[in-house]
Amino acid sequence: MFPSTVYSERRKKLRAELSTGIALFLGNTDVAFNYPANQYTFRQDSNFSYFFGLDHPDLAALLDLDEGKDIIFGNDVDISDIIWMGKQPSIAGQAEKAGVSVTFPLKDLDEYIGMAVAKGRKVHFVPAYRAETRVQLASLLNTEYLKVREQVSEELMKAIVKLRMVKDDIEVKEIEKMVDVAWLMHTTAMKMAKPGVIEQQIAGTIEGIALANAGPVSFPVILTVNGQTLHNHYHGNVLSEGRMMVIDAGCESELHYASDITRTVPVGGKFSQRQREIYEIVLKANTEAAKAVKPGVPFRDIHLLAATVIATGLTALGLMKGDPREAVAKGAHTLFFPHGLGHPLGLDVHDLEGLGENYVGYDDEIKRSKEFGLGFLRFGRKLQTGFVMTIEPGIYFIPELIEIWKNENRNAEFINYDKVLTYLGFGGIRIEDDVLVTADGVRVLGKPIPKTVKEIEDIMS
Ligand code: GLY
Ligand code: MN
Repeated sequence: MFPSTVYSERRKKLRAELSTGIALFLGNTDVAFNYPANQYTFRQDSNFSYFFGLDHPDLAALLDLDEGKDIIFGNDVDISDIIWMGKQPSIAGQAEKAGVSVTFPLKDLDEYIGMAVAKGRKVHFVPAYRAETRVQLASLLNTEYLKVREQVSEELMKAIVKLRMVKDDIEVKEIEKMVDVAWLMHTTAMKMAKPGVIEQQIAGTIEGIALANAGPVSFPVILTVNGQTLHNHYHGNVLSEGRMMVIDAGCESELHYASDITRTVPVGGKFSQRQREIYEIVLKANTEAAKAVKPGVPFRDIHLLAATVIATGLTALGLMKGDPREAVAKGAHTLFFPHGLGHPLGLDVHDLEGLGENYVGYDDEIKRSKEFGLGFLRFGRKLQTGFVMTIEPGIYFIPELIEIWKNENRNAEFINYDKVLTYLGFGGIRIEDDVLVTADGVRVLGKPIPKTVKEIEDIMS
């Protein structure tokens, strides 16, 4: 855990954002895998971690905004627990580490919330992403499971987004340590990417590196020669000469801060002419986008800048035609770059996404687009000092999408379909870094992971 003052300070700032009532935080419970006693690895809720730090199941906490009290609810272990788990620190002892001096057994939470509800006090809580949490909320609030969602507190969500989006130095350090572990994961994957190797062997190895050096992977490893499928978790292909391999993987620190890095490499270690040409365009989109990052700039504009670099490069190669800016304005580039440039990163890989992307990534000034492509951009609003974002442009040749667009002759004034068809089977290329918005611009986090054609060919040779 961080020092207790970190958590007290965070709660103090949260109080300053909220009016009256109770801000309720339910920690996560254990979840059964295939029978009750065999459980998924425990992962604490990120908001609970952020404000209270304690990292085990069956805890709840609240800020009583009117009485100025912070309370942690949890049960001390008994002898039957100790036999299986060993001796555990008391709840009061743990709470002290979070700067909280008031604790109650978990069963008292029912009464506390029940009384608050009976008195008509506002109970603030955020959307539940687990059924277990929603069931608990329904019981606490004496409402129906399906009605819980209607009662979430926009005030609390907005306050949490405001606080968690801005990372301080200790948080950036945690993320950066995880990028350094990702360096080892990615360089190992690069060295292993030889013809005849099965994707699973590499995916398993790098997941093991995460576990051996940090926490678990921060999301299921994406490692595939079929990188045209953006989130491809199938790891059964045998690598062969001529394919590109996408590796999108990161890990979590003990305190649950994440890294999220993507590299794409040619199987066997040498780029073909065609691979290099597409790769250089994505690389330029990545580096130009990162350079454009600074406080006050809407991330949507940086996304569109990356899109323009991609359209310009593809036009030079003859895959697109016409004016690249006009092509981007019409969305023609989304045939090749259908997703958003990136997302916030922190305690969650898609940081805070559980609260709803639009609360996190959009505001009154910048609203989410409804267009194909731009509509997938998870974050469009202006950047601020302390935001940590991913920058992850890509170019993909998605056969099914190409077929639909070609049949409709969509954006035919900007796309050379005959040439595009010769790239079927190419796969996809994505290059992703994690960056910190600084007062005067940007810092790419962590030990640099091979990224240029030369760096990649060197490490793979
Ligand atoms: N790394 C997976 C994602 O950003 O969605
Ligand atoms: Mn990402």
